[in-house]
Amino acid sequence: MAVKSPLLAWAVTLLCAHVRAAPASLVPPHYSGEAQRLADPTYGPIPGQSDLYNYYWGTDRPFPGNISDPIFPTQKGPPGVDDWVWQNLLSAEWLIFEFYQQGIEAFTPQDFVKAGMPNTTYRRLMEIRNNEAGHLRIFQNQISPTSIKPGRCQYRFPFTEPVGYMALMTVLEISSMAFLTGLVQLPKLDFNKGAMLAIAEVETRHEVWALLDIWKADPFGGPSDTIFPFAGEILDSTNAFIVPGSCPHENPEFPHNRQRLPALSAGKDTVSLTPGSRISLHFDDPRNQPYFNKRIQYYAVFFHATASISVPVNTRHWPREEIWVTIPRNFETKGVIVACVADRQGAPTKESVIAGPAVILEQPATLATALLRGKSG
Ligand SMILES: *[C@@H]1O[C@H](CO)[C@@H](O)[C@H](O)[C@H]1NC(C)=O
Ligand SMILES: *[C@@H]1O[C@H](CO)[C@@H](O)[C@H](O)[C@H]1NC(C)=O
Repeated sequence: MAVKSPLLAWAVTLLCAHVRAAPASLVPPHYSGEAQRLADPTYGPIPGQSDLYNYYWGTDRPFPGNISDPIFPTQKGPPGVDDWVWQNLLSAEWLIFEFYQQGIEAFTPQDFVKAGMPNTTYRRLMEIRNNEAGHLRIFQNQISPTSIKPGRCQYRFPFTEPVGYMALMTVLEISSMAFLTGLVQLPKLDFNKGAMLAIAEVETRHEVWALLDIWKADPFGGPSDTIFPFAGEILDSTNAFIVPGSCPHENPEFPHNRQRLPALSAGKDTVSLTPGSRISLHFDDPRNQPYFNKRIQYYAVFFHATASISVPVNTRHWPREEIWVTIPRNFETKGVIVACVADRQGAPTKESVIAGPAVILEQPATLATALLRGKSG
């Protein structure tokens, strides 16, 4: 920007100084304030302009993953129209980033080779971890200076060895892809929709790498990935990985307008999760079970590619009798199927969903049932 008059130059300097320096009053005293430097989007390595987010081969957390505090607003005023969507995404990204960071800390390159995986596996995981650090920074920068940028919590993931770790990675990546198809429907600004699509594409590359190199499977997932319209419901299910009470108290609710739906999965006697398989519905959390009104017809709604298929379910004698349903045999065995229980055909609104969603991995299909056995056994 060319600044002509000295008075204007002075005004601009004052304005910039105001934007950069956090009003101390907005930062609670129990924070060091170090994270506040990140309120300036030009601080530290910039995604797309730094190789840190590609080729950093250290085991310590890369920037900005190494700075865990929330970043407090630096300006007073109303939030940006899409701030809450980016806040949801940033909180979710902390979880994904930490998943890769924990894998890098828990394993060595040799652990993956011994498990029969390529000798490039560990490096690829580092590269993905670095991409995820770039996502953290991008999301921080997309939240406007009038809103808080959520900090890191503590996370616990159910893995103990490399194969289980890579299985969970595959599920997390494909869940991110499905989640982003719903999230991209929420921003008001077109630029933000484009930015979220660009992030979804990166998650797809991560997934394709795992399919090819780790599972030696067909890398393609059919003509369309799965659209699940209620992104917050997929996010809510990731709360299971957050250590209760470990998030900074100032973080916004995660996800925004949390529904706390009963978690859904296939019963432990399930032998297959491919289309045409008969499964019983299991509600994982004994303290959060669904309520079924005897006069309402409920549906298991299965989303795959751009369609959904609703199957009426008999809930009248539950929990005395299990609820059984057949996964629609019309679907191809590709990508994922996202299932939920709804009180209306097609689950037209998020309020119509009363349990789930469950992300059912179809590719590699054998992995899906192995994961289920791991959970119940
Ligand atoms: C985080 O990483 C950045 C960039 O590598 C570094 O300058 C900064 O000192 C680190 N901060 C902490 C707290 O480790
Ligand atoms: C990694 O594996 C490839 C192909 O299997 C092999 O050609 C290469 O020498 C290996 N590299 C190392 C460092 O072991």
